[in-house]
Amino acid sequence: MTIETIPFPLPPSADSSKFRAFGREVKGVDPGALQATQFQEIEKLLYKHSALLFRNVDLTPEQQYTLVKAFDPTCESYGHGNNKTGKTKESILHPYLKTIPRVPQVQLIGNGIVHDHEGIPEAQLKHASHRTFHKSQVSEEDETSGVTRFYRWHMDAALYDLPPPKVTALYGISVPEGDKQICRYDDGTGDELEVPLGTTAFVSGKTMFDILPPELKSLAVRSRVKYAPHPFIWMAPAHAKSSGLGLETEGLETPLDNLPHWEKSKIQIYPVLWKNPITGDLHLQVHPCGACELFVDPLPRTEDGSPQGGLYPEGAHLVDLKTVRNLIYDMQRPGIAPSLVYPHDWHEKDLMLFHNRGVMHSVVGHFKPGKPRVFHQCNLAASDEPLGPSIQDILRWA
Ligand SMILES: [Fe+2]
Repeated sequence: MTIETIPFPLPPSADSSKFRAFGREVKGVDPGALQATQFQEIEKLLYKHSALLFRNVDLTPEQQYTLVKAFDPTCESYGHGNNKTGKTKESILHPYLKTIPRVPQVQLIGNGIVHDHEGIPEAQLKHASHRTFHKSQVSEEDETSGVTRFYRWHMDAALYDLPPPKVTALYGISVPEGDKQICRYDDGTGDELEVPLGTTAFVSGKTMFDILPPELKSLAVRSRVKYAPHPFIWMAPAHAKSSGLGLETEGLETPLDNLPHWEKSKIQIYPVLWKNPITGDLHLQVHPCGACELFVDPLPRTEDGSPQGGLYPEGAHLVDLKTVRNLIYDMQRPGIAPSLVYPHDWHEKDLMLFHNRGVMHSVVGHFKPGKPRVFHQCNLAASDEPLGPSIQDILRWA
């Protein structure tokens, strides 16, 4: 049987011209039992299209781990480290990830109480809510009428010690049905987006870069982001912006001296733009909540040595959190405009495989008590660091 692909079903809110390459539903293969040649094709499709959807899939945690591992065969550790999220209670991720005991690379996530699930006698799952994270909240009245927010835009990555996973597999096992919700940005733009209940929202990091004006493209191609040590503990006391895209600067982050032991050598510094290994495209990939400093390289000299325009022409090392966050926000906010978001409408047995170094995603929505939501998530701390822009990319965009 040959592999067949069809474009994602886009909602009316989406600008289809920006989704020509993004997202393919894949038919004709069992992602839990891929032959080597099939996997090679799937791997190419993933890096080309950023996200692949398989429907009506039966997938054990072992098969999910095997599938994700095929993209980076020497990896064995979950993206945040095996059995770490459950034990690190100070981490902002702690309430949301429950490790499957026999396959610690796969996490149980969702909402509601689950009994006797893959070796877990009972788990109280919590769908991440903006109420516990954003500085401002949607009123209870609005929430009851179906208004919600993006929880937190991110890539799946520990951002400390462990390189960011290449691929994440999200598998929907139990998916409560319900009315659509309105995801409000509440950032003064009036932007909002109709979303399926409990959607996972995706945006393309390539589009995020492609649509920037020249001066921000120049900044992006010359910049590297330094992440805080133990960023998910560091950020835990802080509050997020209403769009879920980064943090407000209120001085609430955990002081570095109060963090668990950390080592300078394990701090992560990544380029703002990550080069796609198959297409060579540049994807703007920054976890805005964990970022704490920016290094900007100087503009390349023109042939006659005269200075060029652009931001920070002589380069800079920016350490003021507010400045760093504002610049990152300026680079990322255009890319989460409603017309650029793909909000996936989950069905039971959907398997979404996404290029974690090429897209950003967010949990969205608010559930009323009822049927539990049960998902399995798997990603692996990578064997290498993401590749930044090439010299040619820098000369082209700087
Ligand atoms: Fe995630």
